[in-house]
Amino acid sequence: MSLTICNVHFTQQSEPIVWFSSPLAKLLRLRGRKSVNVKLGRETIPATVRTIKKGGHHVYLSAGLRRSVRIPKSGHVYVYNEDEGEIQFGPLIGVLTDSRIRSSASPFGERTEFVKQLLRLGQRRAYFFAFTPRDINWQQETVHGWFLESGGVWSRRVVPFPDVVYNRLPSRKAETGLQLTSLRERFVRKRIPFFNWSFFNKSDVYKLLDNDPEALRHLPESINNPTSGRIREMLEKHHFLYYKPSAGSLGIGIYRLTYHPRRGYFVRYRRNSENVLLRFSHFDGLMRMLRARHGSGLNHYVVQQGIRLVEIENCPIDFRFHMHKDGENRWVVAGIGAKKAGRGSVTTHIKNGGSLMTPELALGRIFVDRSDDVLKEAKEIAVKLSEAIERNYSHTLGELGLDIGIDRDGSVWMFEANAKPGRSIFKHPALKEQGRASLEYILDHCLYLSKFRKKEDS
Ligand SMILES: Nc1ncnc2c1ncn2[C@@H]1O[C@H](COP(=O)(O)OP(=O)(O)O)[C@@H](O)[C@H]1O
Ligand SMILES: [Mg+2]
Repeated sequence: MSLTICNVHFTQQSEPIVWFSSPLAKLLRLRGRKSVNVKLGRETIPATVRTIKKGGHHVYLSAGLRRSVRIPKSGHVYVYNEDEGEIQFGPLIGVLTDSRIRSSASPFGERTEFVKQLLRLGQRRAYFFAFTPRDINWQQETVHGWFLESGGVWSRRVVPFPDVVYNRLPSRKAETGLQLTSLRERFVRKRIPFFNWSFFNKSDVYKLLDNDPEALRHLPESINNPTSGRIREMLEKHHFLYYKPSAGSLGIGIYRLTYHPRRGYFVRYRRNSENVLLRFSHFDGLMRMLRARHGSGLNHYVVQQGIRLVEIENCPIDFRFHMHKDGENRWVVAGIGAKKAGRGSVTTHIKNGGSLMTPELALGRIFVDRSDDVLKEAKEIAVKLSEAIERNYSHTLGELGLDIGIDRDGSVWMFEANAKPGRSIFKHPALKEQGRASLEYILDHCLYLSKFRKKEDS
């Protein structure tokens, strides 16, 4: 097999013909052939093949061939042949996303800027486009994709089904709907790699890792949908718990429960952008309050052992580890943000008064000369946790956002794993470079999942 970058040009002829410059024809073992199958994504079209005397790696496609294969544009792209007589251009990579609010300049709402960054970076290495579920034509097996032109404007083109789909559909609710479930299954049935599969629920991740002793060491004790009896037992055992909605995010609906044998039960939470602290002398009073606020919604809660996090100026600190699979299918830490909780806040979310800093700065203030070792160990554990999640999960994973706590002894804990992590940590001026690296990893991993790579799985 051969893989190389070539420069694609178009000609006027209407018959399906493809010309290769002589060095390229030699590399792709095409010399002496009369016809060849030309592939893009999931489309294959037979064409007449010719060689032209010209140096470099150039390809000329007739207008007729271009139209049937639906090659989106001229310029540099990979060309690859697995079998003799078959030439594949690409990879063709689709970023699946959507937005409720959209305009022609921002077709993916607030996600548009992220999609643009990714497409811009991928432009020279792939046919990189974005699409929404509405842009798929299942009958014709085509996608009405959004391509980014050099001036930063959008253009629409119909392309075959891609080699890889990077899923950034935003809505947890929409994702569990019948339509999107079958959308994913249809792609997988066509053997089109699709990552990530969906959002995670906290309880799903805890369950995934339940039989994985290596990962379990770093998971606070957690119970899904606990009875009030179990919550009480957990409070007596740990004196400090987090009670949180399994499908929650952004800290919404989270309670921090503490128990002092003499003083009673304390609960801290956020109510209408205010931090509240309540005391109950009896456990039943605490449960009554929670039930009054959530009713049967509590059936979708998890209770978790509370971890005494490291602090700066009496405010707890935790970390977002943004993880990617790289071009060799290995998990790597792309970037880490340290988040300091706002005063009195139950979580470290910026929206709740938290602030963002580099892990070096945060850990340096806490662990001083031990901080490099603590960070190194936390990175190793984050890789192990990602491997464990992937090992126990039945779908393709390429990206994870781990919420990691470090306690006062330096032990590392994972609070949750996000399968579609936000990118707010990369707004920090010191984390811009990591933000770029994160995009590179997405691209590299798409190249890995498509067949456009030199090495085979090992
Ligand atoms: N078991 C815990 N012990 C200590 N702090 C926790 C615990 N669980 C959550 N937190 C704090 O609350 C934050 C939000 O919790 P998380 O599980 O990530 O929920 P969300 O989905 O709302 O982000 C964490 O980043 C951490 O600061
Ligand atoms: Mg979180």
